[in-house]
Amino acid sequence: MSSKSEPSKNFHLSTEELIAKGKAAYLPVYSPREMILDHGKGARLWDLEGKEYIDLGSGIAVNALGHQDEDLVQAAIDQTKKLWHTSNIYYTEPVVRLAVELVEATFADRVFFSNSGAEANEAAIKLARKYASLKNASGKREIITFNGSFHGRTLATITATAQPKHQEGFGPLPGGFTYCPYNDFDAFEKLISNQTCAVLIEPIQGESGITPAESGFLKHLQTLCRKYDALLIFDEIQSGMGRTGRFFAYEWEDGVQPDIVTMAKAIGGGLPLGAMLTTEKVGQTFKVGDHGSTFGGNPVVAAVARVALQKIRSPQLMENVTRQGDQLRKRLEELNLDVFKEIRGKGLMIGAELQGKWKNQAHDITEKCRQHGVLILQAGTNVLRFLPSLNITDEELQAGMDRVVETFADLHSEK
Ligand SMILES: Cc1ncc(COP(=O)(O)O)c(C=O)c1O
Repeated sequence: MSSKSEPSKNFHLSTEELIAKGKAAYLPVYSPREMILDHGKGARLWDLEGKEYIDLGSGIAVNALGHQDEDLVQAAIDQTKKLWHTSNIYYTEPVVRLAVELVEATFADRVFFSNSGAEANEAAIKLARKYASLKNASGKREIITFNGSFHGRTLATITATAQPKHQEGFGPLPGGFTYCPYNDFDAFEKLISNQTCAVLIEPIQGESGITPAESGFLKHLQTLCRKYDALLIFDEIQSGMGRTGRFFAYEWEDGVQPDIVTMAKAIGGGLPLGAMLTTEKVGQTFKVGDHGSTFGGNPVVAAVARVALQKIRSPQLMENVTRQGDQLRKRLEELNLDVFKEIRGKGLMIGAELQGKWKNQAHDITEKCRQHGVLILQAGTNVLRFLPSLNITDEELQAGMDRVVETFADLHSEK
């Protein structure tokens, strides 16, 4: 059998050549920035050319402890030398211990491990439907989600994601999802009914622009969920694992008790891991064979996640999140160029909405920041998103924000 070309050898390729090859070989669903990242340490990254960047995005909230944290690296090395993979047909110590530690640290009694956020949400959707099916053989299958949400890229999770741009062209979509305006107390009350089996919400919407639930909204959902016997599911994939200064963002509201919480991103300390957490009562719905994953809960990832969990739960780290979050906000507020309409979010999950001549320029601004040596994210076209590592130091944050300020000064003089 002949192949299209010789297999590539490990010869040196320049940045431009690698980018060209990536463009030709990747499915064109991403538009990566024109650099090849090579290595990192703490909140700093370097590309193949040796250019330094301060990372204020953490790989979209994944590298919560920065790059190359020595304890995480050591945990990965130790477990890699022992055992990589077994499947869930067998127990391994790191995975068992991680499940127990998550149960101890949270509201949950039961944990299911996946590889990604979308899969954690799929598991939650399936669990809620099955739970309802045991109470009501034919009805009660509707799931309410919220305009502007983001829950993943699988068919069920793009349907849960109440943003048409993520759904167009992918129909027919699974049925049974209804959308409610975020933070609209009355609309929710009108929408929920005996047909509702679950309500799925991000306590702070991430992808669509860092929008926190208004005070009292989660409690309002909970009251009505209890009334209609619907499960309350929090998607904490972006906002969880200490990102806001509490372990889960929903904990900022008193008296809220979810039935299911989904996690991913930071839970693996930078390696791929997701989790669905639930109570004993709801978790007992699933029986052997109802759900599963070959890779979910890999021993190497779990060994790293255990160390990440331990480090993230320390009061000093949570204090750092609050302090650095305040500092980041202050630096943005000081910009003084009429750039932002609003700066919102909690802890180190901050969105800055653009206005005036800067409106809808998020892509160009983040690119210009990159050229100035600082990586920030966008959320949609009109919000700059900051998700630095939770252990970012004063020096790293100052250096990163100095570069953001320089970028705006440059852009301002160009406009
Ligand atoms: C709130 C939320 N839910 C779900 C997802 C999907 O996670 P993944 O990309 O790991 O499937 C994301 C990813 O950005 C997210 O922010």
